[in-house]
Amino acid sequence: MHHSEKSTIDGEHAIQIGMINLLGQAIAEKQSITDKTNILDQLINYTEVHFMSEQLIMRQHSYEGYNEHNVEHDNLMEQLLIMKDSVLSKETSVGSQLLNELRDLLITHIATQDRKLTNYLLSARGN
Ligand SMILES: [Fe+2]
Ligand SMILES: [Fe+2]
Repeated sequence: MHHSEKSTIDGEHAIQIGMINLLGQAIAEKQSITDKTNILDQLINYTEVHFMSEQLIMRQHSYEGYNEHNVEHDNLMEQLLIMKDSVLSKETSVGSQLLNELRDLLITHIATQDRKLTNYLLSARGN
């Protein structure tokens, strides 16, 4: 893996966090359900593509932590879909609590599983 690939992954994480923050702002400002749903749909689509590209990289390198990493991707996607139900149900307080939990989960994933993966890919073993 080249350093540029790591930069791409890091950049995608920054976009994910940016979208979550945007959604948090939309919830706090009690924006319309349509606006909140649009942001959340973008976040869900973006995250699906991002997870698929990480999974592809893991497979290409026969990464031994693939399953362990993927369990967290599955859980995060599930939380995003729960979040979508909440946004559609109009409950602002539930929405912002779920969003905080989702943000924490994602930040933890990036700081642990994703960091482990990029470190592995940058090491001799991942080449
Ligand atoms: Fe990941
Ligand atoms: Fe990631």
